Amino acid sequence: MRAARYHEHGEPDVLAVEEVPKPTPDREEVLVETRAAGINPIDTYVMAGDSTPADGLPAIAGSDLAGIVVDVGEDVTKYELGDWVYATALGIHDQGSLAEYVPVPVDILAPLPESVSFTDGAAAAMAFATAWRGLITRGELRLGESCLIAGAAGGVGHAGVQVATEAGATVIGLARKEGTDEFVREQGVDSVVDYRSDELADEISAAVGDGLDVALETHADANLIPEVEAAARGGRIVVLGEEGPIEIDPGLSMSAKKSDLDVRFMSIAASRDDHASLLTSVAPLLAEGTFIPSIDSQFPLDEAVGAYRRLSESGVRGCVVVTFE
Ligand SMILES: NC(=O)c1ccc[n+]([C@@H]2O[C@H](COP(=O)([O-])OP(=O)(O)OC[C@H]3O[C@@H](n4cnc5c(N)ncnc54)[C@H](OP(=O)(O)O)[C@@H]3O)[C@@H](O)[C@H]2O)c1
Repeated sequence: MRAARYHEHGEPDVLAVEEVPKPTPDREEVLVETRAAGINPIDTYVMAGDSTPADGLPAIAGSDLAGIVVDVGEDVTKYELGDWVYATALGIHDQGSLAEYVPVPVDILAPLPESVSFTDGAAAAMAFATAWRGLITRGELRLGESCLIAGAAGGVGHAGVQVATEAGATVIGLARKEGTDEFVREQGVDSVVDYRSDELADEISAAVGDGLDVALETHADANLIPEVEAAARGGRIVVLGEEGPIEIDPGLSMSAKKSDLDVRFMSIAASRDDHASLLTSVAPLLAEGTFIPSIDSQFPLDEAVGAYRRLSESGVRGCVVVTFE
C-alpha cells in the first residue's frame, strides 16, 4: 500500500510517499481502508520529534481518518466488514492515517453515519472531538454563558464556535478580522475580536458584558492574561495550545469579582480513552447537519507535504484534508 512516511524527524518536507507492506489487524483492531485523512498541527510536533511515535521510525504521519472496515481482528465483535468509521489522534501510539490502510484499535474508533461524507468525517474528527471535550467536558459550558473561542477560523476554533453555539452560549470569536470575519460569523459567533489588538482584555470585556464565563484557548502565551483579566467569577479557561512560555501574576485572578477562576488544561492525544465516546457524541450532530466541518482545502496523498504547508499558512478556514482515490 502507499503511505506518507518519515525516516527522520524534521519539518513536514521529511515526508515521502512510499510503498509499504499492507498491515493486518491485531486481535482487537480493525483494518480501515482510508477514504480521507485529516491533518492537524499535532502531526507536525510528532514529526519534529516532540513526541516519539510508539513504534519508532520510520513512521506514518497523519492524525484523523475516515474510511471503511475491510478486515477485523479475531476478538472484534462491534464492527463488521463494510462499516463506515472515523478516528482521531492517530500517529503517536498507533499508525498514522496517511496510508491506504490503517489498523485501528476498536476502543478508539467510532461509527461514522453514512450520511456524513468521508471528507467531512476526517475533517471533523480532531476538530470537533477537541472542541467537545474542551467546551462540554472540561469547560462545563452552560446555556446562556459567554464563551470565547481563540483561533476561531482554524480547525478546532471553527468547531468550537459550532459546539458553543449549539450549547446555547453567547460566542465571541478571537480571529484575524481581515479575511476571516465573515467566515467566523457564518460559523455562529456573535462578535469578533481581533487577536492582534493592543487592548485585548478591554475588547473581550466589552464583547462579553458581564465577564467571560468560558474560553477555549489555542494560543495561551498571547491570550491567557487578557482572558484572566476579562473573566467572570467562576470562569473556566481551557488551554489547548501555546506557542511558548508565559509569565503570569496569580494576583490577577484574586479580586472579589474574579475569585474561583479555573485555568484547565487538556490534551486530546493524552485522553485516548475518551476518543470513542467523543466521536460518538459528535456523530449524530454531524449527521443531522448541526455541525458542518469547513474544508479549507483538499490534497491527494502524493501532495501530503503541500497539505502541511497549507496548514501552516495564515488564513486557513477550517480543516485541511488528504483524500484517497
Ligand atoms: N490540546 C489539545 O488537545 C489540542 C487538540 C487540537 C489542537 N490543539 C492545538 O490547538 C492549536 C490550534 O489547532 P488548529 O488545528 O485549530 O490549528 P489551525 O487550524 O492552524 O488554526 C489556528 C488558528 O489560530 C489563529 N491564531 C494565530 N495566532 C493567534 C492568536 N495569537 N490568538 C488567537 N488565534 C490565533 C490562526 O489565525 P491566522 O490564520 O490569522 O494565523 C488560525 O485561525 C494548535 O496549537 C494545536 O496544536 C490542541
